[in-house]
Amino acid sequence: METFDAIRSRHSIAKVKLDALPREMIEKLLDAGNQAPNHHRVRPWRFFVLTGEARARLGDAMAASLLDREPTATPEQLDKTRALPLRAPVIIAVSVDAPTEERIVAIENVCAAAAACQNILLAAHELGLGAIWRTGVWARDAKVKEFFGLAPELDLIAFIYVGIPDGEPKINERPPAEDRVTWL
Ligand SMILES: Cc1cc2nc3c(=O)[nH]c(=O)nc-3n(C[C@H](O)[C@H](O)[C@H](O)COP(=O)(O)O)c2cc1C
Repeated sequence: METFDAIRSRHSIAKVKLDALPREMIEKLLDAGNQAPNHHRVRPWRFFVLTGEARARLGDAMAASLLDREPTATPEQLDKTRALPLRAPVIIAVSVDAPTEERIVAIENVCAAAAACQNILLAAHELGLGAIWRTGVWARDAKVKEFFGLAPELDLIAFIYVGIPDGEPKINERPPAEDRVTWL
């Protein structure tokens, strides 16, 4: 697919089939993410691939966290939370390394990891897959970070849900760039 076409025709696809994806396909997505630009070549992204029952374990961590925050949460609310990661056969969670040297800037690491996320979305599109970048409160949740072995101060910037599209994507019309542009 031509790059401009890929960028323009990519849309978030939330509804996907639950069929497992071949590992090689997931590895292509990770490789695409790993091609992102990054300052000082630190590759500050970490990809966590969740398939099968790992998604249920993430759901358990999310439900446990909800119960901590809202002790009156109903069993239905907890079940609904537990089911969130089961919406796609594959989730790629993306975290960002903290700078380890003075010359490395935290926001630049976040930028690089975000570029990796967009690469993954575009690669998924190229492969005919549906993908959506999600965060929600869960990306900032200490218990969820702990599930991934991440310290609470580290940034978890994405849960990229991926699968075979189930139906047509909802097209979010994108306004032209003009009102975001200043020519100097
Ligand atoms: C940092 C970030 C966080 C996002 N979090 C969510 C989310 O929690 N839930 C969701 O439905 N979409 C989320 N999205 C996806 C946006 O909703 C989606 O990209 C937007 O609606 C535009 O649609 P498009 O991707 O089809 O252009 C997120 C996107 C970004 C970049």
